[in-house]
Amino acid sequence: MIDYKDLKRAASMIEHSCGPADTAVILGSGLGGFEEELLDPISIAYDEIPGFPESTVPGHAGRFIVGTIRDHRVLLMSGRFHSYEGYSMDKVTMPVRIMSLLGVNTLIVTNAAGAVNLDYRPGDLVILEDFINLSGRNPLRGRNLDRFGPRFPDMSQTFDSELRTLALEEAQKLGLSAKQGVYCWMNGPSYETPAEIRMIRILGADLVGMSTVPETIVARHCGMRVLGISTVTNMAAGVLDKQIHHEEVLAAGEAIRESFCKLVTQIIGKLPESTIVEM
Ligand code: HPA
Repeated sequence: MIDYKDLKRAASMIEHSCGPADTAVILGSGLGGFEEELLDPISIAYDEIPGFPESTVPGHAGRFIVGTIRDHRVLLMSGRFHSYEGYSMDKVTMPVRIMSLLGVNTLIVTNAAGAVNLDYRPGDLVILEDFINLSGRNPLRGRNLDRFGPRFPDMSQTFDSELRTLALEEAQKLGLSAKQGVYCWMNGPSYETPAEIRMIRILGADLVGMSTVPETIVARHCGMRVLGISTVTNMAAGVLDKQIHHEEVLAAGEAIRESFCKLVTQIIGKLPESTIVEM
């Protein structure tokens, strides 16, 4: 069970090393390299943070990096935790609660996703307008942490409409084709079956993936504004007559990485002036 005191201890330690932040970015598979956009970066490895989840990938501890973009202090989560790795929902979302304690009020959450919508193509950027949770899990299950938010938080405006408009405008300025769509969260780690993808399409989703929704639910519970951006790395199962391989997903993420980093930097540069609150 997650405990407020443990979260506070972890946040104090990060603040001591890296200072506070007002904006956070969670990077999806194959979208690394964004740290190069940060001025004066300071980092802290996850394994230095008390109570933090232990990485399941040997030699890749993951880290938080805090740096500046325009007048924003940006906290970048390099390496995220997925429930398919065996982490509890508390551990998957612990970083988001810590972000909140560090003063973060805007979260940009990104992912690699499969296209359920037949009009999408690998390489497309999609600004999330809503999600469907088909995982059967909810990260807020258990005792409510009242200091963060209410027992029954509203999810009717999950992805902030002003941020979505800003993201679409900035994408257009960069000459990128960005769409808006609904993301469906599946547990993984196996990719979906063609029958599941047909079902997901009927239910109203445009994209499918194995992340983003738990962090988004917790960020909304904390009262953060959330922007979700998917990069389409493959057509979902059964759309094409071929199998899906993780290597293909990573390679497609890599191909779009540069434009994606530019877009996120432009968006952060246009966010309202930061109000850093000291802990
Ligand atoms: N399904 C689930 N997760 C994914 C996919 C997919 O097709 N592509 C990238 N992440």
